[in-house]
Amino acid sequence: MKKIENVSLKNYNTFGLNVKAKRMFIINDIYELNESIEYINSNKDDSLILSGGSNILFKGNYNGTIIKLDIKGIHIAEKTSNHVFLRVNCGEEWDEFVSYSVSNNWGGAENLSLIPGKVGASPIQNIGAYGAELKDIFYSLEAMDVQTGTLKTFGKEDCEFGYRNSIFKNALKNKFIICSVTFKLDINHNINSSYKAIEDYFIDNNISKPKISDVRRAVISIRKEKLPDPEFLGNAGSFFKNPIISKEKFEKIKEKNPGIVSHKEKNQIKLSAGWLIEQAGWKGYRKNDAGVYDKQALVIVNYGNAKSKDILELSEIIKESVFNKFGVKLEEEVTII
Ligand code: FAD
Ligand code: EPU
Repeated sequence: MKKIENVSLKNYNTFGLNVKAKRMFIINDIYELNESIEYINSNKDDSLILSGGSNILFKGNYNGTIIKLDIKGIHIAEKTSNHVFLRVNCGEEWDEFVSYSVSNNWGGAENLSLIPGKVGASPIQNIGAYGAELKDIFYSLEAMDVQTGTLKTFGKEDCEFGYRNSIFKNALKNKFIICSVTFKLDINHNINSSYKAIEDYFIDNNISKPKISDVRRAVISIRKEKLPDPEFLGNAGSFFKNPIISKEKFEKIKEKNPGIVSHKEKNQIKLSAGWLIEQAGWKGYRKNDAGVYDKQALVIVNYGNAKSKDILELSEIIKESVFNKFGVKLEEEVTII
């Protein structure tokens, strides 16, 4: 296990914030993970699991130990005539798993192309995009209990997946470390082009019989158009979740705002937070090095030297102004540490 003391986290969070941690353990296998847990429990140290750092905002320096998961490995656990069960270790890049699946013509993950981060973090908020969610291809996961160091298997029902939500953000928050995820992929697959932008891509590119590789290409092209690449512009994707409100409340807001962007979500209504923020006048706003992305108002960006405080202050005034204008409370999607 590699140990680093007094480490800069600049390259370990996609916001690119220049904060430090007291210590970091870089973990390459389950034995090292066990060892790190023993250390933390016996030293009563604060600890944080870090994967790709693409959904985290550090409020400042972290006075504890970062457990950086780098456990690699991907293998076929089982193959039937219709499905492939692919077991992927937590430290694999999410998009490499998607690319691998698509190149083998196993369907289900292609709509989730190019989401940053690692496989181990994907169940935490049940990542989703372009008409699909992790839960659609999820079969099971194996996680380590941080108290005992024992491994436990969770099936789909156990994970209580919801929109940007799972049991690991609620009752089991910080209690388990996800070590591997097993996906159930389709050999005889269908194409999911329900998202309008994907459909438009097929029309524009004269693709009449799309394959899953075309879906992947479409999603990559749409994402590159809309979302900033953290390599060049610090960000953590959507800063807030799309708020879900009652139909009654929605009707009242709609009376005053007939153009409001919304979708049905079971018996409720999901609003587009990006639209609310844009209408509140924030799109393209910049103060010092913190700003609101000019192509997607739901993304807060670091133009280079923003401090945690700049990002947090901006997010707070956005919340306040959206609440004052629409009476809707925005909730952070990013984990604030
Ligand atoms: P991290 O940021 O390292 O961790 C996130 C949280 O999970 C932390 O609380 C961490 O402690 C915990 N955690 C991480 N790994 C584990 C583990 N193995 N066991 C237990 N806890 C763990 N998300 C979407 O859903 N859809 C999108 O379309 C999308 N687009 C994005 C676009 C951009 C440009 C960016 C920067 C982000 C986007 N995101 C999106 C958010 C992000 O990519 C996902 O949330 C991703 O799953 C985070 O993975 P990570 O490895 O970076 O996790
Ligand atoms: N919109 C605006 N102004 C904006 C942004 C959006 O008016 O600045 C409106 C437009 O009408 C647009 C609609 O909102 O058509 C939806 O926008 P988009 O397709 O970009 O999706 P989103 O709802 O803003 C969600 C996810 C993204 C995911 C995309 C695609 C959340 C919080 N965000 O964004 O996930 O990639 O859908 O499915 O659910 C993330 O979680 O980090 C993330 C990027």
